[in-house]
Amino acid sequence: MRIGIFGTGYVGAVTAVCLADLGHSVTAADKDPRVVGKLADGEPTIYEPGLREMLVANLKRRRLRFTTVPDEVMSRSDVVFLCVGTPPRSDGHADLGQVEEVVRTIAPMLDGYKLIVEKSSVPANTATRLRSEINRFADPKSRYDVASNPEFLREGTAIHDFLHPDRIVIGVDSERARSLLLDLYRGSFSCPLYVTDVKTAELIKHAANAFLATKISFMNMVADLCDEIGADVVAVSQALGLDRRIGRHFLDAGLGFGGSCLPKDLKAFVKVAAEVGLDFALLREVERINIGRTERLLRKVDRALDGVEGKTVAILGATFKPNTDDVRDAPSLRVIPKLKEAGAALRVYDPQGLSNLAKMLAPDDQLRHVESAYDAARGAHALVILTDWSEFRELDLQRIRSLMQAPIIVDGRNLFDPVDMRAQGFEYYTLGRGDASLIPGMGTEPQ
Ligand code: UDX
Repeated sequence: MRIGIFGTGYVGAVTAVCLADLGHSVTAADKDPRVVGKLADGEPTIYEPGLREMLVANLKRRRLRFTTVPDEVMSRSDVVFLCVGTPPRSDGHADLGQVEEVVRTIAPMLDGYKLIVEKSSVPANTATRLRSEINRFADPKSRYDVASNPEFLREGTAIHDFLHPDRIVIGVDSERARSLLLDLYRGSFSCPLYVTDVKTAELIKHAANAFLATKISFMNMVADLCDEIGADVVAVSQALGLDRRIGRHFLDAGLGFGGSCLPKDLKAFVKVAAEVGLDFALLREVERINIGRTERLLRKVDRALDGVEGKTVAILGATFKPNTDDVRDAPSLRVIPKLKEAGAALRVYDPQGLSNLAKMLAPDDQLRHVESAYDAARGAHALVILTDWSEFRELDLQRIRSLMQAPIIVDGRNLFDPVDMRAQGFEYYTLGRGDASLIPGMGTEPQ
């Protein structure tokens, strides 16, 4: 099929490349000529494992082209995906400015039937707003539909998630839109294709992210109790996860959820409900628990160092999760300024996120970026882990210990086994593993 994409960020670039890889002819537009130029040269502007290889392969197959000209997309597409950003406004509502700007731009170009599809996360009822925007600027004879086909892509695994989804949600209000989207997906995916109306599809996206956030905050609430009574939240997560009704995913306690999706979709969902007089107090509590995670970690750092003034602290992890360069709403953006304010000297390392971190928190004499975890640990009074990169799990801990001024690790992601860490001579602080003096070999017994 002939596919158009507007917006080539985390969602748009992955959607464009994957649909091309599935054999479709894809024309993708972005307002930023620098981004378009780099993508056309086979250079992704975001770090996403596997994206570069798939981009280059499909440029070579001539299935994929990038442009800054909207009409080039419209004249070459029958189905047009809206993948531009929907960031949170200061009041928590989703900012639909970019989406509305695209539909206003393409409305006069609607010659012949087009299907306009919301791919970015948008609040329920957005399609109604988009239709009225289009009708203001389109020829009354224009034939089009607006549909919802929300993405469930996780950064760091976005290509896998696109090509191997648990389900594809299709929100349509016409038979023509339904058959177009079923044609697009049928045959390329073995997962369920769940068809519903547009409003319900929009709501499914927010409900999914809000539920994932709720699972995480629930475990962080339990983690705080584990800390106080000396129980082990990792064991709680593992035992809960063995119940198929609960499932093991998204039960990892720690510094909570960041990124450009869960926090903003949670806020937007609360606002959608408030607009019709409903108070999603449960979700406001999910957000409150999440915001409190970094404060709890900082109190542990302060106690472990008996005050951070004048101390050197190594920070491992700037990104909001591993396998991404994205630092949006990452714990590092709250932890680093607070430790600086308290007078600590910081050495920060992250495998992918340092250049994006520098855009948010410029290095200075109190905040130095370093090239490895070992450089960060050198001379540090404490080492603080903010992101669960697998490279941190594989560190040579005795080398780390030998480089530090004191063997203190405050682990916001519970990467290591407390028994082992104490045996290696560390003062090891966690979020929820209490002072559990676990005997070795606990966990699931082989049958
Ligand atoms: C999320 C949703 O998973 C995805 O379906 C949606 O399309 C976009 O938002 P993403 O934000 O990219 O994806 O990453 P995700 O893996 O969901 O992690 C989100 C945050 O939750 C990260 O900060 C991560 O550290 C945190 N998290 C995740 C936990 O704290 N505990 C967990 O068990 C899982």
